Amino acid sequence: MVEPLYGSWEANIEHALSRRPIDVCHLRHEEAVVLGNLGIVRVLDPKGSSSLQEGDICMVMPFAERDRYGYAELIYAYDAPRTVGLLAKRTKIATDLLLPIPGNSAYSLPQWAAYARYFTAWDNWRVAHQCWSTQMPEQDPGEHLVFGWGGGVVLAELQLAKRAGFRVAMTAGSDGRLAELNRLGITAVDRRLFPHLALDPEHPPLDTEEMARYRASEKEFLRTIGALSDGAGAAIFVDNIGAPLYKATIKAMARQGVVTTVGWKHGMRTFHLRASECINRHLHVNTHVWRYDDCATIRDHQENTAWMPSIDPAAVYEFDKVGQLAADYSSGKVDSYFPLYSVNPL
Ligand SMILES: NC(=O)c1ccc[n+]([C@@H]2O[C@H](COP(=O)([O-])OP(=O)(O)OC[C@H]3O[C@@H](n4cnc5c(N)ncnc54)[C@H](OP(=O)(O)O)[C@@H]3O)[C@@H](O)[C@H]2O)c1
Repeated sequence: MVEPLYGSWEANIEHALSRRPIDVCHLRHEEAVVLGNLGIVRVLDPKGSSSLQEGDICMVMPFAERDRYGYAELIYAYDAPRTVGLLAKRTKIATDLLLPIPGNSAYSLPQWAAYARYFTAWDNWRVAHQCWSTQMPEQDPGEHLVFGWGGGVVLAELQLAKRAGFRVAMTAGSDGRLAELNRLGITAVDRRLFPHLALDPEHPPLDTEEMARYRASEKEFLRTIGALSDGAGAAIFVDNIGAPLYKATIKAMARQGVVTTVGWKHGMRTFHLRASECINRHLHVNTHVWRYDDCATIRDHQENTAWMPSIDPAAVYEFDKVGQLAADYSSGKVDSYFPLYSVNPL
């Protein structure tokens, strides 16, 4: 038995609320579900657990079902039936899903509550970086660009890429976010400079003016990538947006480039020409969550290397304002990459 302290507001909650691309109630054969799969909780009753004690503060690892190698198959409080999430004053969670935050941590509880985007980024970066290295051994990463669009997962991943010595750049759609990227040493690219860079691959525009607007935006975007990469293109492109940007993503990649993703924010059906992808030796990386056995390693990497998010107190919503948080997040009014909700006061 636990009481949630802070929950992290993530795109999966928005996907569930909009019932797109899947309706989790329908999938689980349940009329209603309590969402909230990521956040920190305080243990009220450890129910005989040898590793946990009453009062322990833990992060929730969302592995409701995992495969024999420890990778997630069904997600707690999302697509796993009969799981109750953190949007509740109290809930019950299997003890093997609770990872204590480090004792005497240098970081605050809200910072730890935003762990999931970091854990996801750690796992995706590990695979993408290794894939790139298989074809580009002994290359100086400082001559290669890692580029991304999306939110907090990309931000966390680019911080790892920067530490590995790559040039890093990311798009953002507001002045506040552009400033935050620059503060972190990530080259900020204002995506308002290419406002028509979205193409529905299943219904491409028939209108010539609309197509011309797309082409102008694509040209500006590719010019930017060229300038950042000495004309080579992105060595690793972290794309968590998906379908409408996929054409531009693939065009922006360098030879031997890796396109890597965990997300399909605006569409999950993507198309590419296999011949071009083979000839350009592009590698495609798709990952989901992280490996269960890596949980403590990633947590310790965060604590030991100060790889932690900055939390904006204005983006921590009270429990009775969660509806407002949902509305603000989906209308793009939350400037923070790491919005949270608080459930029980400490
Ligand atoms: N499979 C997994 O394990 C896993 C884990 C975590 C997340 N995800 C998925 O990954 C995706 C991203 O999640 P996140 O938490 O990093 O971010 P997020 O909170 O979903 O934010 C996405 C951001 O992308 C940017 N964006 C929106 N439309 C765009 C467009 N047309 N072009 C370029 N940028 C655009 C927006 O920022 P700006 O306006 O500032 O550009 C937006 O805030 C989501 O679909 C999520 O479900 C999957």
